[in-house]
Amino acid sequence: MSSPSLSPINAPMDRPNPLALVAPDLQAVDAVIEQRLSSGVPLVGQISHYIIAAGGKRLRPVVLLLMANALGYTGRQHHNLAAVVEFIHTATLLHDDVVDESTLRRGRATANEAFGNPASVLVGDFLYSRAFQMMVDADNMRIMQTLADATNVIAEGEVQQLMNMHDASLDEAGYLYVIRSKTAKLFEASSRLAALLVNASPAIEAACATYGQALGTAFQVIDDVLDYAGNPEEMGKNVGDDLREGKATLPLIIGMQRGNAEEAAMIRSAIENGDTSKLSQIVQIVQSSGALEASQAAAHQEAERAMQALSPLPQNAFTQALWQLASQLLERRA
Ligand code: IPE
Ligand code: IPE
Ligand code: MG
Ligand code: MG
Repeated sequence: MSSPSLSPINAPMDRPNPLALVAPDLQAVDAVIEQRLSSGVPLVGQISHYIIAAGGKRLRPVVLLLMANALGYTGRQHHNLAAVVEFIHTATLLHDDVVDESTLRRGRATANEAFGNPASVLVGDFLYSRAFQMMVDADNMRIMQTLADATNVIAEGEVQQLMNMHDASLDEAGYLYVIRSKTAKLFEASSRLAALLVNASPAIEAACATYGQALGTAFQVIDDVLDYAGNPEEMGKNVGDDLREGKATLPLIIGMQRGNAEEAAMIRSAIENGDTSKLSQIVQIVQSSGALEASQAAAHQEAERAMQALSPLPQNAFTQALWQLASQLLERRA
């Protein structure tokens, strides 16, 4: 399996890369992933390798590993749990790409494009259930509860998002509910697991959870900005997918508030009809109205909240790296 890129957030070369500190841990996680993908049914291995070996930033494992090290964890269960969160993440991507009818992921055809929807859905189920088998290894009820709850909330978020499709009246609160559920919850769980591994105090556990939740929220807001302002080559996925699906994400919600009446009407109609023929005009409006900038500012605020959450934690190189992760995420282009 090819190892993941070690510059997931496009860290400029002159700044220390937060990932360097957990590079050996990430290798151990990749070994667990490889080992736990085995199945007697060849198509399972074929599709899971297809998506997992394509790379991916391994951000949720990175958060878990950095946090576990920050808290002084010395056992080996963090490698297993980091693989668990990556499996859950990968399962959500397999399902998400079917639902979103996406054709490009991690720089190659999505699994649904290459193998079809039924195989993608079923292998997603395999990865979810394998993750549940693996988490039992940790033999810790709170850990199982955290992961079970997170997986359930992610599913709820995706269903809520489905119900919001083509709804141009979705407001910031409705948007926030969806992204906290579908994306931030797994970051929150990844970070909380580190606290559970070291039996941290409730205050430290809450700080870890807040860090993950805020980081994950910022991460999804930037993802939604990149869907209008990004470069498919760098992102490894298409731009404009959100508009095609009629997803009212933050750039569009703010664009309708800040654009003039004609611009707001154009965004509204594009959401209602999932009209990508207007993509370049919509991009123009979200840019000129300041909606992209305002969305970036919202992500910035969440990243700051993540950084502030780190203050009760031990101050060491790992917490420093977690701080940097939050800061560099805002500049990510992929
Ligand atoms: C993609 O997550 C789904 C979102 C939450 C936006 P990532 O951007 O972390 O995906 P990979 O694993 O790096 O491909
Ligand atoms: C994130 O939402 C999906 C999940 C967390 C399951 P998106 O639909 O925006 O993710 P991408 O853009 O397809 O990676
Ligand atoms: Mg998607
Ligand atoms: Mg997206």
